[in-house]
Formats: sequence, structure tokens, C-alpha cells
Amino acid sequence: MTLIAQITDLHVRPSGLACYRVSETNMLARRAVEAVNALDPQPDAVIITGDLADTPDPREYGGVQRLVSLIKAPVYVLPGNHDSATMMRETLIGVGPINEGENGKMHYAVDIGDVRLIALDSSVPGAPHGSLGEAQLAWLDATLAASTRPTLIALHHPPALTGIAHMDTIGLADSAAFSAVVSRHAHVRRVMCGHVHRAIIASVGHTVMTLCPSTAHQVHLDFVDRGHGHFIMEPPAFFLHHYAPESDVVSHLAYVERFPGPFPFFADEGVSF
Ligand SMILES: [Fe+2]
Ligand SMILES: [Fe+2]
Repeated sequence: MTLIAQITDLHVRPSGLACYRVSETNMLARRAVEAVNALDPQPDAVIITGDLADTPDPREYGGVQRLVSLIKAPVYVLPGNHDSATMMRETLIGVGPINEGENGKMHYAVDIGDVRLIALDSSVPGAPHGSLGEAQLAWLDATLAASTRPTLIALHHPPALTGIAHMDTIGLADSAAFSAVVSRHAHVRRVMCGHVHRAIIASVGHTVMTLCPSTAHQVHLDFVDRGHGHFIMEPPAFFLHHYAPESDVVSHLAYVERFPGPFPFFADEGVSF
């Protein structure tokens, strides 16, 4: 059994500052880390799929570095549109193989338990939309051809339209080319991403894309194109991607905060009168 926890869109701010005046992203990211650290069994790895920082600012990456150092499991990161890949490389030294990419992109492949994790860099400096580029897609194609281990691909921007217009306009520009590469490799079992700050499931090629909620604010679910969007403080959550040979990859949504329970199914279970 292999277990990969995915948290995303932390949007860490300088100490004491909220995000968009409302979302206490630093506190909420800390609570998400504590929830992941409390998992039993522990995940074999934690992947953070971008927007680690919010503006970005060196002070924010100081906060990200402190948060990452608290995570018990091995941590892997990739950049989102709010990140600076350069600042990530300077600050998050030793957090995954983040210096291996080519052409300034932060892409890499690692074997974790029974699966392979491929991290891609869809960030475009100074722009909110995403793009992988021909060179990175060629690297992805060659990397997928090199091993038939069950593979999960992680990137920030979803390679599918979500129906939420203001987010789709800042989606992945070369999603069709990405899907074409994925379609050539049957051992791609999951595409996991972030960016849209809510749980969304879609098809990409032959496989399934899961979009992970943020550890902080979520994007309001609204299918009407109003020319702008809103955020909403729905419950922060994360994904647990569970692999076993008999079940393949199964992705579970897990909430950061606690709820009443767990309760026994039978009220008198374990109770002596
Ligand atoms: Fe984000
Ligand atoms: Fe984003």
C-alpha cells in the first residue's frame, strides 16, 4: 500500500497578514499540516501542488519553509501561478529534487512506494494562467516511456475546463497537448492538481483528474460568467491518494477540521451496562 497526501494552495502571507483581508492562510496552512501529521498510518509522501506563497515575497517563503519543516513525511513541491520558482529553489533547499528541471522549469520524477510521482511546472512568470511548454511535454513523454510503474502526475493548473469561467480563463493553455501525451501512456493512473480551490473531478485522456481544495479559502461555486469571481470559507480539505495493486489508485477527500465522531455503528458497542 502506498499513500500520498496532497495539500494545495496554501497562499502563505507575511506573518500576521491575512489573504484578501479575510483568509488567515498562515493559520489554516498550519492546521492542515497538523491534520496530515495526525494521519495514521502516515503518508509515504506529501505533495504540495502550488500556490505555496501568495504574492510571492521572501517573507512568505520563510513561512513556507517553516511549515514544510513541520511535516513528518517526505515533502515534494511544485510551483503555482502565485509562486516564484526562483524563490522556491532558494528557500526550500532539500525539499524534493526541485533543481533538476530544464529550461527554468521545476519538473522531476520520483518513485514513492509502489508508484511513480511526476511533478510538472505549469507556472508562467508574471501570468496567472498555466503552460507546460513543448520542452517539458517532450520530457514528460520520454519520462513516461522510461517506466511503466503506476504513475501519478501532479501539476498546479487543471488540464480540463471546470465550468467556472473566471478560473477557466486562467487555466492550462496547452491542456490538449498534455492530454495527448497522457493518452499515450496507460500507466498514468491519476492527474492531480490545484488552482481552482475546490474539489473537482474530470477526465483527462484515459484517466481521472482530481482537483484538490485549498487549505484556506475556496472558490465560490458559480457557473454564471460574471466577469469576476468570489471566494468562500468552505471547509478546507486535502486529498489522500491510496494505491494498492488490487484497487489501483483511489483518491479520498479528507477534511482538515474535526467533526463529531467517529461513532460506533451500534450504539451499545463497547458499552457495558
Ligand atoms: Fe491558489
Ligand atoms: Fe493558482
